[in-house]
Amino acid sequence: MKKLYFIPLFLLQIFNYLAFSQNSEYKVNSPDESIEVNFLLTKGGQPDYLVNFNGKRIIDTSSFSFDFKNVKSFGKNLMVANSSNSSFDETWETVWGEQRFIRNNYNELKVNLEEKEELKRKCSIVFRVFNDGVGFRYEFPQQENLKDVIIIDENTQFNLTGDHTCWWTPGDWDITEHLYNTTRISEIDALSKRGHPNLISTYIPENAVNTPVTMKTDDGIYISFLEANLTDYSSITLKVDKENLLFQTELVGNDAEIKVKTKTPFATPWRLILIGDEAKDLVESRTILNLNEPYVLDDVSWINPTKYMGIWWEMHIGKSTWDMASGKHGATTENAKRYIDFASANRIKGLLVEGWNTGWERWIGFEDREGVFDFVTPYADYDIKEVVRYAKEKGINIIMHHETSSAVKTYEQQMDTAFALCKSLGIHAIKTGYVGPIIPKGEYHQGQYMVNHNRKVIEKAAQNQIMVDVHEPVTPTGLRRTYPNLMSAEGLRGQEFNAWSIDMNPPKHLTIVPFTRMLAGPIDYTPGIFDIKFDKYKDKNQVNTTLAHQLALYVVIYSPLQMAADLPENYEGHPAFQFIRDVGVDWDTSIVINGEIEEYITITRKERNTDKWFLGSVTDENERSFNISLDFLDEGKKYVAAIYSDKEDSHWDKNPTAYKIEILTVDKTTYLNLQLAPGGGTAISFIPVSE
Ligand code: NOJ
Ligand code: CA
Repeated sequence: MKKLYFIPLFLLQIFNYLAFSQNSEYKVNSPDESIEVNFLLTKGGQPDYLVNFNGKRIIDTSSFSFDFKNVKSFGKNLMVANSSNSSFDETWETVWGEQRFIRNNYNELKVNLEEKEELKRKCSIVFRVFNDGVGFRYEFPQQENLKDVIIIDENTQFNLTGDHTCWWTPGDWDITEHLYNTTRISEIDALSKRGHPNLISTYIPENAVNTPVTMKTDDGIYISFLEANLTDYSSITLKVDKENLLFQTELVGNDAEIKVKTKTPFATPWRLILIGDEAKDLVESRTILNLNEPYVLDDVSWINPTKYMGIWWEMHIGKSTWDMASGKHGATTENAKRYIDFASANRIKGLLVEGWNTGWERWIGFEDREGVFDFVTPYADYDIKEVVRYAKEKGINIIMHHETSSAVKTYEQQMDTAFALCKSLGIHAIKTGYVGPIIPKGEYHQGQYMVNHNRKVIEKAAQNQIMVDVHEPVTPTGLRRTYPNLMSAEGLRGQEFNAWSIDMNPPKHLTIVPFTRMLAGPIDYTPGIFDIKFDKYKDKNQVNTTLAHQLALYVVIYSPLQMAADLPENYEGHPAFQFIRDVGVDWDTSIVINGEIEEYITITRKERNTDKWFLGSVTDENERSFNISLDFLDEGKKYVAAIYSDKEDSHWDKNPTAYKIEILTVDKTTYLNLQLAPGGGTAISFIPVSE
């Protein structure tokens, strides 16, 4: 038998102390002292950092450096000019979100570094340590020997301390619509994800992963890597060194081999490591927002989270088309009025109309897509003024669709005119889209060019009082704090793939997404499909969840613009639609009740400005039962709970539409037993009993 040797803990601690005490003079802890960051310089003047969580090493000695074009790399032969420690504690109010009040509490260490010789270039590294994670960034001040800068690489290391289980998508410079993969770090193989037939723009240059990437250590610690405040820079991917269990940043570049073009002074985005001893800690973190700046808009009164319907799913399942030439045009005046009537009768306040403007005959698969869409010319069978007038009369706001087909230059030229039309029609929301390879050719969706384009759109939209929902976006980094008109985004495997992809989203998909992509920000997943198999339109495709699971997504997947995605005829007269009618979209409080990545998650949220609570619970392909305490409910109040759940024989594939509704009176002392079928879910509304 193999013998186990134990090293007494106090000896290990002494060893750690000795190891650090030789170099480490710079240290910063989280306010609750669970996380500790050490910064040190090696003898050769190379900067290193380490992260411990509850006394355990999470990130082992990791360095950073920058490679520039035509000048020497930065990251060796440095000295510490000086350093400072400070603390911050403030509670701020969100314009909208998962939570009304957010505490921003951290300890900061700023180390000012300078090259010892020659160029004497300077850079500061700033660590902010929160109770649930560490953010750090590099700040390059204005300086004589570093003015115009072309970054070829930022080499920030994350040296992991074990072969953790990892939930990852490949480091694609272009599209972020891959399914999640679950492997050990040593088994990550991003290159095998090249060439998916349903992804028309994808570029995976090396074995790297995109952020957010989440992992679990063998001793049960959860870690996720993200970015916060991505401004005038490019996104990172994380290159995987499988042997050394090391991640290193690899910036998204372009075909001219430029990763970032900038000038001093500049600061990089925050590299954010979330750490928790429960999976739910990651989901409850608001640190990504705390690492962004407060909002810069003078007036935010026109920004309203909303539920909406769309002339949308019908195109994806092939009932109608975006273009008019097919003879099956979806965006007709008549069809829009049909949706408006339904939405208005059912307390849904928005309607997205896709395929309303000319050009859809040439939107996909064409090399030259410039000048095709102008965003102001409606098809002949769509009377835009009449639709908007009718919608207003019925209390519905039209959401304008701007599919750019990635002809970004065209969109930039058209934006003023397009927004002027929105303004003249009183439209306050757009959905943008970037399907296909970016024009100018050689740029990629996650690169600096698109980061800056995205910022132009958000700023211009804000000037015109327009909220934005971005599809095929730059992965969100918390900018919604600074620009609260940046509402939602896709940037993941959405519901649409169930309509036409060769590999549909598996039942477990939405038990992974809350712990990965959702950590970056709101998701326009477009839930609420009731006709799960839609055999009338497609026999090979389907949604791989039960109907109750679809309802639960309104609470589980956070978005301030939340779509009721199915066709009006599938909702008409359906008792389960009551949940979609009732559910909130803007929250005062959000609590994750339980969750394990790729297994299940249960979230409850209290609606802002009402006393209603909602709960959503979803499972993977395994059935589950939970005994849930309702102790989150408000003191002294009784509620009518409407429970929408799977039936005993519900099953995501064999019997997905079987569901039941029970009505109970409950209060905070009640326990509920939730029974989730394979691929199932439970959705509950708690409406206070009026006195
Ligand atoms: C892809 C988007 O994700 C989808 O929502 C949209 O309907 C199509 N592009 C057309 O713009
Ligand atoms: Ca998409």
